[in-house]
Amino acid sequence: PTHPCVSLVHPGPIHPCVSLVPPGPTHPCVSLANIGQEEDFEAARLKAEKLGAKKEEFVEEFIWPSVQANAIYEDRYLLGTSVARPCIARRQVQIAQQEGAQYVSHGATGKGNDQVRFELTCYALYPEVKIIAPWRIPEFFNRFLGRKDLMEYAQKNNIPVPVSPKAPWSMDANLMHISYESGVLEDPMTHAPADLYLMTKSPADSPNTPDVLEIEFLKGVPVRVTNMKGGESKDTPLEIFSYLNVIGAKHGVGRIDIVENRFIGMKSRGIYETPGGTILYQAHLDIETFTMDKEVRRVKQRLSITFSEQVYNGFWYSPECAFVRDCIARSQENVEGHVQMSVFKGQVYMLGRRSPKSLYNEELVSMDVQGDYDPSDASGFIKINAVSRHVDGMVVHTRHRR
Ligand code: ARG
Ligand code: SIN
Repeated sequence: PTHPCVSLVHPGPIHPCVSLVPPGPTHPCVSLANIGQEEDFEAARLKAEKLGAKKEEFVEEFIWPSVQANAIYEDRYLLGTSVARPCIARRQVQIAQQEGAQYVSHGATGKGNDQVRFELTCYALYPEVKIIAPWRIPEFFNRFLGRKDLMEYAQKNNIPVPVSPKAPWSMDANLMHISYESGVLEDPMTHAPADLYLMTKSPADSPNTPDVLEIEFLKGVPVRVTNMKGGESKDTPLEIFSYLNVIGAKHGVGRIDIVENRFIGMKSRGIYETPGGTILYQAHLDIETFTMDKEVRRVKQRLSITFSEQVYNGFWYSPECAFVRDCIARSQENVEGHVQMSVFKGQVYMLGRRSPKSLYNEELVSMDVQGDYDPSDASGFIKINAVSRHVDGMVVHTRHRR
C-alpha cells in the first residue's frame, strides 16, 4: 500500500514510479539495475533507492550458463540483453515482495522482446503480481509519441532527465554488451556511424600487436585468465569477465550488425558489441570440442539452439529451460583445461589447448605413427556408409537386374 509499485520505468503521467535510467530515444527506460553498465548510479539511487542486481550474480548465474551453452541466437547474437532481463526482473520482484508491493512496472515498448522477458520472469517468480507497462496503455502511447514528448513533459513537471538526447537510437548496456536499435538504425541499409560504438575500439584503430591470453576452464566456465605478455591474471568470475571485456574492447572484438527475428513476430535491426563474451564463446567452443565426446557434443549442440531460443524469448524461468540448463551443465563436467589465444584486430585466433580431460589421442590421429588402428578397416567402413546412402552404383545396379 505504501509502495504500490516497484518500477523500472521512467516517471510517466499515469503513475508516480521513479526512474532508474536516462530516457532512450524511442522509449524512456531500459534498466536501472547495476549489472555493469556505465551509469551514474548515485544519481539513479537518489531517484529510486536500491533497485540493483549484483554484477556477480549476473556473471555467475546468467552469463556463465550461457557460456557453457555456447548460447547464440540466430547464429550471431550472444544474447547480452536477453540474459540480463531475467536477472533484473528477479531482483525487481524480490524488492516488490520485500516492500509488499503488488505492482511492478517496466519501460519496454509494446513491440519488443523485453516486455515478454520482464513479465514472464515476474509471473514465474511472483505469480500474483500485477504489471504496469505504460507503453502499452493507450492514454500513454497516444499522448507521448516518443522521447521528445516525454522530455518536454519531464521538464514541465520538474522531473530531472538529461536535456538533450545523447544519440538518435535506443541503447541497452550492461556488463556483457551494449545493444543499439531503432531511431536512425531502423533503415537496415543505414550504416552505423563510427561514434555509435561505446564499448569497443574500431578494429581499424586497434593496436598493431596482439594480446595473448590463456584461459583456464573448469566445468565449462572460466576460472582464470592470464595475459601471457604481461603476466597479469584474474581469477574471480567478475574480474575474469571484466578483464576479457577490456582486452576485447581494446582490439575491437565482438561487433555485429544484424537483422533478427523478434519473438513478437517482426524483424528488427540491431547492432551489438560483446567483447568479452565473444572471446569466451570462442575459447569455450575450443575446450569443449577438445574434451567432449563427439555424440554428446552433437546432442548438446541441439540443446544449445533450444536454450538460446528459450532465453531470447524470455523463458529463462520455465521448467523446460531449467531442464535444458541442467542437461547442459551435466555435459560440462569434463570441460576443463587451458586455451591459449591471440586477440587482434577484431578477431580471436586460437593458438593451442591442453587438458587433463582431453579426448584427443595424438598417437591415434597421427599421420606418422600407426598406433592401435588398422587402416584396412577403413575400406569396409566407407563401403558400408556408401550402401546406406544408395550411392554405391553396384548395389543399385544389382537390384535393378533382379
Ligand atoms: N534485440 C535485442 C534483444 O532482443 C536487444 C533489445 C534491447 N535493446 C535496446 N536497444 N533497447 O535481446
Ligand atoms: C523495447 O521494446 O523496449 C526494446 C526492444 C525489444 O525489447 O525487443
